[in-house]
Amino acid sequence: MSFTFGFQITEEDGEEGDSSCQNTGELHGTQECPPPPLPAKEISMSFSEVQQPATTSQLRLEGGEVLSYITSPESKSLEASTSESDLIPSVYEGGMKIWECSVDLVQYLSEIALSWAGLMVLELGCGAGLPGILALTKGAERIHFQDYNEEVLQNVTIPNVVLNTGAGLDAARCRFFGGDWGGVQELLTEESESTNNKYDVILTSETIYNTDSYQKLHDLMKSVLAPHGTVYLAAKTHYFGVGGGTRLFEEFLQKEGVFQSEVCKVYSEGVNREILKIEMKKS
Ligand SMILES: C[S@@+](CC[C@H](N)C(=O)[O-])C[C@H]1O[C@@H](n2cnc3c(N)ncnc32)[C@H](O)[C@@H]1O
Repeated sequence: MSFTFGFQITEEDGEEGDSSCQNTGELHGTQECPPPPLPAKEISMSFSEVQQPATTSQLRLEGGEVLSYITSPESKSLEASTSESDLIPSVYEGGMKIWECSVDLVQYLSEIALSWAGLMVLELGCGAGLPGILALTKGAERIHFQDYNEEVLQNVTIPNVVLNTGAGLDAARCRFFGGDWGGVQELLTEESESTNNKYDVILTSETIYNTDSYQKLHDLMKSVLAPHGTVYLAAKTHYFGVGGGTRLFEEFLQKEGVFQSEVCKVYSEGVNREILKIEMKKS
């Protein structure tokens, strides 16, 4: 399992944007603009067509569950990005690796007595998808997985779902959405309005490193979380060199006034990490 943190960050990150940059992906003087955010779309893939991965490993949880995952996922189209850095903002957001807070989150979910049966769950920024897969194996009714890069869903998330549940899984229980949170919010809001269903639980890990994305992530959660719903968010207290972290995200939530949050668990061995429980403010 890989836990490296090589973010590719430019000097301008976290500061006022370059006004000459129109999000075109072109060079402006010496500064390269980030490319436009990837559009949102649903990814369909038949479970029976998923190839058996060559190398897999297992994660044993305190609660006794065992989750399997692909150890060396490959994607031809993301090959250049993944070899360059763990994460390239707006190009490749890091989903090919398993990050340590996703392990914290599955451990935490395996410890708490949550009754999953009948729940509708969304994992945001899923990468390997282990938290969502745990919810699936524990009986959640429907799990929707979202990742910025569709290649991650095709090469990592979907194969991991099949690895843990078998190709015979009722395909109606899982759906997969790629793209940026801005577009994903529109797509999932339309979806929830047409089905009259919102998510009971949202799971997300290592997704708050970039403060520029807080508004989009917040607005997406606000649109699709059921009024009684809960978000379990696992992240580092502070992302050194990047700027984000749990305190800053909690401050952001407080400023927006929609959600209340509490720290349910702190992991202090190595880099400080936390699990936040986030719910709609009761009026
Ligand atoms: C560092 S990876 C974490 C992957 C996985 N949750 C884990 O902990 O192993 C961050 C994830 O956040 C998601 N992400 C980050 N920024 C995003 C954005 N603007 N829109 C959509 N997804 C985004 C990507 O899908 C990416 O996989």
